[in-house]
Amino acid sequence: MKRLAIAADHGGFVLKSRLIEVAQGLGWETLDLGTDSADHPVDYPDSAKAVGLELQAGRAERGIVLCGSGVGACIAANKMRGIRAGVCHDTYSAHQGVEHDDMNVLCVGARIIGSELASEITRAFLGATFQNEERLVRRLNKVKALEQGGPQPGDR
Ligand code: RB5
Repeated sequence: MKRLAIAADHGGFVLKSRLIEVAQGLGWETLDLGTDSADHPVDYPDSAKAVGLELQAGRAERGIVLCGSGVGACIAANKMRGIRAGVCHDTYSAHQGVEHDDMNVLCVGARIIGSELASEITRAFLGATFQNEERLVRRLNKVKALEQGGPQPGDR
């Protein structure tokens, strides 16, 4: 069974249980990495790290990180090797990001969109697969090269 790791900070908490239901309804096993309430502040990099570690260890194929805007979670997740995260607040990006860019972490802002759109976005993300075409693999390999200590500030 495919596994989804999901986490939220206090700003994203409100959507987490609904997206877990959606994923389970699609046959995904879910790993809920918190937080458990909107009442206590949680730092979004900790939520992103928890999800990223599961993917890096091969214990989950996909991840979702929720914060208020989706932006902080996305920035943090993309600092982790092997993580390709995108903020998606529309269904096209949610599936195309996987199909073309092999996005493996979806970031959503619970202060930006409501639960039904977030549910459709989750369905689009989890239902998509990387298309594995030559041009897409070439671009993905360039992304991976950037991750391996590529250009540094001042390089040309
Ligand atoms: C928390 O208040 C908020 O800053 C956080 O959830 C997120 O929006 C960061 O990008």
